[in-house]
Formats: sequence, C-alpha cells, structure tokens
Amino acid sequence: MTELAIIGGTGLTSLNGLEITKREMIQTPFGEPSGPLTHGVLNGKEVLFLARHGDDHTIPPHRINYRANLWALHNAGVKQVLAVAAVGGIHEALPPGALAIPDQIIDYTWGRPSTYFEDDLSEVTHIDFSYPYCKALRALLIEQCQAMGLSICETGTYGATQGPRLETAAEIARMERDGCTMVGMTGMPEATLARELELDYACCAVSANWAAGKGDGSVISMAEIELNLTTGMERVRSVLEQLLLRL
Ligand code: HPA
Repeated sequence: MTELAIIGGTGLTSLNGLEITKREMIQTPFGEPSGPLTHGVLNGKEVLFLARHGDDHTIPPHRINYRANLWALHNAGVKQVLAVAAVGGIHEALPPGALAIPDQIIDYTWGRPSTYFEDDLSEVTHIDFSYPYCKALRALLIEQCQAMGLSICETGTYGATQGPRLETAAEIARMERDGCTMVGMTGMPEATLARELELDYACCAVSANWAAGKGDGSVISMAEIELNLTTGMERVRSVLEQLLLRL
C-alpha cells in the first residue's frame, strides 16, 4: 500500500519521472476529489499524487473539495502527506522562487467545509492543532533542502486567505502584524482535515510573488506568478525525488 502522498498545487499538476501504475477516480462521502488519484513509482518508491486544483488547474482555491481530497488519500491507505503550495512572500526572506517549510498557520478563510466532525457524532471532538504540521516530515524536508545546498526558510507562519483574488496591501500589512510570513489560499482547511484523519502532514511552500504591497509595488500578474513558479517548482521536484529515497 502506498503510504506517501504528494498534493501538488499551482505549478505542480504532475510529477516528472513518475511511472504511473494506476489512476483512479474515487467517490467519497463528501463528493469527488479534485481529480483521480495517480499511483506510481518515483525513484523506486511508491507514491500517490493528487493535483489540488485538478489535472487541468481549473478548480479555484475556495471551490476545492478539501474534505474529499483528504478522505480519498486516507481511504487509499496514505499515512503521510507532503503538500506543495504556491505562496506570496510577506517576509523579506521569501522573494519569488524561495522555498519555505512553514511551522504555523493562521486561518483567514471562511465558509469552507472544514471538518469531518459535524454529523452523526457520538461525541463532540476537538482535535489538538497547536502545532499544525508534522515535526518529523518537516525535519525531513529541511534536511533534504540543506543536503542539496538550497537556502530555505526553515520556519514561518502561513496565512491562509480565501481568494481567489489576491490581497490588498492593507490586508497584507495586517497579516504581517499578526505574524504571517507568507500568504496562500489553500493551506486551510487542508491541514486541519489531515490532522482530523491523523495523517502526518507538512507543506513545502514556494514563493510565487511578493505579497501585495511588498516588492516594488507593481501589479502582480498570473504571468509573473507562473514564471516564478517554474524555477521554484523545479527545485521542489528535485527535493521530493531525493526525499523519497530517505523515507
Ligand atoms: N496571495 C495569496 N495566495 C498566493 C499568492 C498571494 O500573493 N501568491 C501565490 N498564492
């Protein structure tokens, strides 16, 4: 059984070099996931891949069926999830192209189905979420980046916003005062749902742009985001490939 899954975000809708053994569309009690679960072998290790925004990148962050995605992975026997996510850099250490392994989250999203614990409950459940990411998986990611000589941000607070629009400069200034070092639209409720299902979950974030009002104040375009992600995601691909050998 494949125990490791990679959830790919913007800029990572497939894994180069993955020898695909099976693709299956799963129905879950929460509906359909973003796309088929792709089972395969990468660098000799079994891995499962799911494109968070769909194979053709057509599902916006607020419409992703996070519950179905995580449920489908759990149902397939996955125990560990490496989530790859594009973010905007708020902290000066996160220019476009930089990588970060966040250790905290602040949730600014709203209206997203964000728990499995709401219907047919025998008791009310409150999961511990003090430390939202898996320490061991984060350490692996950090060690792998260091082994490859990549300079990365080893900690950071991921501020999860609703999207799909980007933020205003004032919103980013507020998020910075709150302690956010990066901003993205998909980190929540993905991380919560992984914890509810007792999956080990860590995120490798790639800065696609300076967050609103940071950088030189020029308009943030999709073209710029895509261009910056091309280099960033190449690095992430190599990190993931090498990391598989350590698991
Ligand atoms: N804001 C929110 N999400 C993002 C950004 C951003 O600037 N860049 C990439 N994902």
